[in-house]
Amino acid sequence: MTVHTLRWDEASGRIEMIDQRALPARFDMLSYDSAAAVAAAIRSMVVRGAPAIGCAAAYGVALEARRLQQVSSAEFARGMNAAFELLAQSRPTAVNLFWALERMRAALAALQGQAQPLVAAALLREAHDILAEDVVANRAMGAYGAALLPLTAQVLTHCNAGALATAGHGTALGVIRSAVDAGKRISVIVDETRPFLQGARLTVWELQQENIPVTLITDNMAGHMMQQGAVDAVIVGADRIAANGDFANKIGTYMVAVLAQRHGIPFYVAAPLSTIDRRLMSGKDIPIEERNGAEVRGFAEQRWAPADVAVRNPAFDVTPAELVTALITEKGVLAPPTVAGIAALFGSS
Ligand code: MRU
Repeated sequence: MTVHTLRWDEASGRIEMIDQRALPARFDMLSYDSAAAVAAAIRSMVVRGAPAIGCAAAYGVALEARRLQQVSSAEFARGMNAAFELLAQSRPTAVNLFWALERMRAALAALQGQAQPLVAAALLREAHDILAEDVVANRAMGAYGAALLPLTAQVLTHCNAGALATAGHGTALGVIRSAVDAGKRISVIVDETRPFLQGARLTVWELQQENIPVTLITDNMAGHMMQQGAVDAVIVGADRIAANGDFANKIGTYMVAVLAQRHGIPFYVAAPLSTIDRRLMSGKDIPIEERNGAEVRGFAEQRWAPADVAVRNPAFDVTPAELVTALITEKGVLAPPTVAGIAALFGSS
C-alpha cells in the first residue's frame, strides 16, 4: 500500500491529508480548503514531520489564492499576507515549513500583475512541484543511505521519518525501504517516542504495511538494546540542520546519539537540503517548540499524572554534529557533516 500523506483532490479543489492523530486505530482522510484550516491542521498534528508540513503549508498558500481569486487586488494582497503569517506561526522548529513558504512567496512575487486566477493556478503548480520534488529527494537519499547499511542489519530509529512525515517514501525510513528493495535483510527497532508516540503509532504502522520486520521498544530501552549488541546502526530524520551540522529532531534523539557513540554504533541522519538552515551557525540557535503539558500527563483521554503537576514538554532536542557518523542528503553523503561539506552541497564553500 502506498501511503499518500497529502493528496490534491482536483474534483473538490481541496487538499486531503491523513489524520495522523487517529493512526493506527483509524485511517481517516481530512480535507482542507483554506490557509487557516491548513495552519490549524499543522498545529494540531493532523499532519506532522518536517517535509510534510512544508508541503502542507505550500498547499495552504495555494488554497488561499484560489479562495481569494475573485476579490479586489488590494484584498487579495492583504489576504495572501495574512495566510503566509498564519502558516508561519503554526509550528516553529521544522525549517521546511519556512523554506516552503519562502518558495511560495517568491513564486507569488514573480507573478506580480497577473490575473488572480492565473496566479492561483501557478501557485497550485508550485505546491505540486514541492510535493513531487520531495519524493524524488527521498528516493535519492534512500539510494545513498541504503549503500551504507550492511547486508543484514538491525536498525534503530526514533520518531517517524517515513512516508507519513514526507510527501512519500520517507527520509530515515526511506533509507530502510530502499535497503530492503535492494535485497538487504533489515529489521527495525522502533523507539515508541514519548510523549506523542510517533514511533509506536506511525512508524510501526508504516513498516507493517510493507512487511518490514519491526520490534517496538520504549524509549528507555535503547541503551540496553545497544549494550546487548542488538543495534547495528541508528538512523533518524531531522527538523532543522544548522550550517555546522548540529541538528534538531524529535525529543530523545540526542539521548540515542550519545548512546550510539558510547557503543561505537554508526549514527546516521537522513534529510533533504530543504531541512538545512544555513542562516543558523550552530544548533544553539534552533528554536525549540514547547508543547502542551497535557501530552506528558497522559495521552488522548487517559491521564496518568496528577492534573496539576508542573510539566516540561520540549518537542525537539539538538544533537551536536560531532555525534553524527554521516548526513545523508539527496545530493550525497557527508561523513561526517562539516561546515565546508554542507556549504558544498549548496554549490558554495
Ligand atoms: O513533532 P513531529 O512529529 O512533527 O516531529 C517529527 C520529527 O521529529 C521527524 O523525525 C522529522 O520531522 C523528520 S521527518 C522526515
